[in-house]
Amino acid sequence: EKEPVTVLVTGAAGQIGYALVAMIARGAMLGPNQPVILHMLDIEPAAEALKGVKMELMDAALPLLRGIVASTDVAEACKGVNIAVMLGGFPRKEGMERKDVMSKNVSIYKAQASALEKHAAADCKVLVVANPANTNALILKEFAPSIPDKNITCLTRLDHNRALAQISERTKVHITDVKNVIIWGNHSSTQYPDVNHATVQEKPVREVVGDDEWLNNDFIATVQQRGAAIIKARKLSSALSAASSACDHIRDWVLGTPKGSWVSMGVYSDGSYDIQPGLIYSFPVTCEKGEWSIVQGLEIDAFSREKMDKTAQELIEEKELAKSCLN
Ligand code: NAI
Repeated sequence: EKEPVTVLVTGAAGQIGYALVAMIARGAMLGPNQPVILHMLDIEPAAEALKGVKMELMDAALPLLRGIVASTDVAEACKGVNIAVMLGGFPRKEGMERKDVMSKNVSIYKAQASALEKHAAADCKVLVVANPANTNALILKEFAPSIPDKNITCLTRLDHNRALAQISERTKVHITDVKNVIIWGNHSSTQYPDVNHATVQEKPVREVVGDDEWLNNDFIATVQQRGAAIIKARKLSSALSAASSACDHIRDWVLGTPKGSWVSMGVYSDGSYDIQPGLIYSFPVTCEKGEWSIVQGLEIDAFSREKMDKTAQELIEEKELAKSCLN
């Protein structure tokens, strides 16, 4: 039998956490033959709720679940962690300035980076979900210098999956018949969902859809604003789909992407596609043996270029804002 993998979920008493820990413990993240130990971290005000989640995990009698640590102590929660999924953060509340939210998250991610650096496994893989996801990941990277750059990522797979879903709905094909959409840039409303290299049943999306007007406008806006649409409908932000996409992100990263297809991940830019190095930017990637690589050589037209640069610009500004919060 395989050695258990230790997975940390921060903010585990929250909405996404509630959906995610069950998925992880049922094998949706690391496969049906991989035992897991769950470390769940939250803050003091959520300590009771976190205990409740632990009780429910016990009561679900999950065969793959070999241990549960529920803690408000960052050091204890980070100990020996192989995979860290960061949901915990400070949400933007009404009337708050962008700078105030950024400042709260910068201090959270700085502290948690240091804890991971000290206590996690040396090859720990990190997925940041909490917003601003790309910039939180960047802060984490800065303050955990011994964790390889390549191990720190953020979630844009939810946006990727939303794009697949819109195309599948529109063309009336199964979701698995749609491949190779791309989310470029920030997990925010400036993200660019790109279908220029995507296919439906192996044929170019543009050819199958036959409506560039829709693809260049409504489709992009729908994907960019899907989060807001969910909040409007549910009065709560997306949780089930976010948890499911977080599982997809880690599963493909660890176990590999299927041959001939790529996924979107927020990763540390190496300057590919002329995106400023040193940003955490969403790119198309393939994964093999636990390592992602950015898909190279895709042709970028003027329409795409403008949108890719606009979302990069937003990330540059977020980075500046985050830096100013550190001083
Ligand atoms: P939530 O508010 O229900 O849960 C957040 C949890 O984090 C709470 O239990 C809170 O007590 C905890 N927390 C706060 N500060 C913490 C700290 N310093 N350490 C540990 N835990 C801490 O929020 P929800 O809906 O679960 O969303 C979590 C995050 O994910 C939010 O930032 C949200 O904006 C983001 N998100 C990102 C998506 C993406 O695609 N990247 C999609 C959906 C949500």
